[in-house]
Amino acid sequence: KPRSNCLIVIFGASGDLTKRKLIPALYSLWDTNQLPANFAILGIARTAYSDEKYRDELYEFSEGSYDKAKWGEFSKHLYYHAGDSTAEADWGDIKGYMCDLAKKHDLGDNRIFYLSVGPQFFEPIITNIGKAELVTEGRRFCSLSDDVPWQRIVVEKPFGSDPASAVKLNQTLAAVFDEESIYRIDHYLGKELVQNLLVVRFANSLFEPLWNREYIDHVQITATETVGVEGRGAYYDSPAGGAMRDMIQSHLLQVLSFMAMEPPVAFEADDIRTEKNKIFKALRIPKYDDVPQIAVRGQYGQGQIGGEPVIGYRDEKGVDEESQTDTFAALQLYIDTWRWGGVPFYLRSGKAMAEKKTEIVIYFKPTPHCLFKEQTKKLKANQIIINVHPNEGIRLRFEGKVPGLGMNIKDVVMDFDYIKQWQVKPSDGYAILLNDVLRGDQMLFKHRDEIEISWNAVQPVLDYWKDNPQDDLPNYNAGTWGPSAADIMMARDNRYWHNY
Ligand code: BG6
Repeated sequence: KPRSNCLIVIFGASGDLTKRKLIPALYSLWDTNQLPANFAILGIARTAYSDEKYRDELYEFSEGSYDKAKWGEFSKHLYYHAGDSTAEADWGDIKGYMCDLAKKHDLGDNRIFYLSVGPQFFEPIITNIGKAELVTEGRRFCSLSDDVPWQRIVVEKPFGSDPASAVKLNQTLAAVFDEESIYRIDHYLGKELVQNLLVVRFANSLFEPLWNREYIDHVQITATETVGVEGRGAYYDSPAGGAMRDMIQSHLLQVLSFMAMEPPVAFEADDIRTEKNKIFKALRIPKYDDVPQIAVRGQYGQGQIGGEPVIGYRDEKGVDEESQTDTFAALQLYIDTWRWGGVPFYLRSGKAMAEKKTEIVIYFKPTPHCLFKEQTKKLKANQIIINVHPNEGIRLRFEGKVPGLGMNIKDVVMDFDYIKQWQVKPSDGYAILLNDVLRGDQMLFKHRDEIEISWNAVQPVLDYWKDNPQDDLPNYNAGTWGPSAADIMMARDNRYWHNY
């Protein structure tokens, strides 16, 4: 799909996400000729900066990752406007500035609005965009070109903090934008190894016949981090924070939908989103009283990571000293369909843990009959391990004969190493997803329906946790694999977490 000239407006221009992810992603798209011929990026935030100062600050933040001469060229397209985008009164100026830039760079009325702000600012900004009549629905204001102009909005997470707030945010969006113009971003869907799941499953005949309840015993989806809350204590400890909301409800359920969906009719956004939505509809909603059996809440205390001492979560800035927030969460889910009936999916995520790893591990059932009787106890389950990050790649673990006399069996690994194979470092997802927004491709973005339905699968757990404070928190030391309760949950099912 072509990329038309456009203005990219980033709300929250002085924030971390903009500096760390969005500007580097736009720079890399520009550097590889993926931005339209005419474009301008307008950062909006309250802090006062000149364009020059803003450009310098972004350059310095990158600590040398931009080529200086190229940055000079790229940053000619980068502007800054100080204003409060949540205040209607500031929108006369904001709109005037957008139109001036559109004229200067010959951009017409095409615009991308990127909400890189705290969730409390989403709705006022969306409403102000609407009131300022910046969504033209095909009408032209700033240019006389014949192209039909478009406006798109990118909404970061968290998308609501419960089902009701997610519905409300969707309603606010729908009052201003058509669903086709709304890009609810989840950077996990931009990760190469997550997209590669679709190729592994639907471009090969090797895996799909085994991808069901007949052969699969259970699936584990893990996203652990060694970092703590990194200065985001106030947000993380708010009612919108915690690992269940921050990671499981958003990223891990999305990964699960790619792992579990039926083959779509075509490789088109609508078809893929239809199949994902069916998975969310089929997720069994946990019963409130079952929560202690199927979910685990953890919180880190002080410990050590990489030999360095780490403070406990409750000592982080902005965190309540009696906080009940989950910095670790684990959840067992079922997908009630013919393909997945009875197969448990275990999802877990935690901060300040032993290792940074995002992976999907598929454990297979034993063979129906074992020829190697005396080895039976030693045989390990066959596994497909999809390393999303780090060590990107796919590993098959199966049993092999140990060389020599007699029949000794040991598990072996067959390895597809992404970096060795393709000689590139996988992108963190933002460049891929921004490229899709520019091209108007919604395939890797969440539809309104899937967001609303997927909240239901975690809400009973959140309700239970809210009603039942846990007096053993903090219950894991920073730098470990999380609370023992998570291991006990697996042991009850005769299973164990993939921690190595
Ligand atoms: C973000 C969460 O969405 O994802 C953060 O808000 C988390 O808390 C981050 O650290 C993890 O992303 P990645 O790409 O490093 O796995």
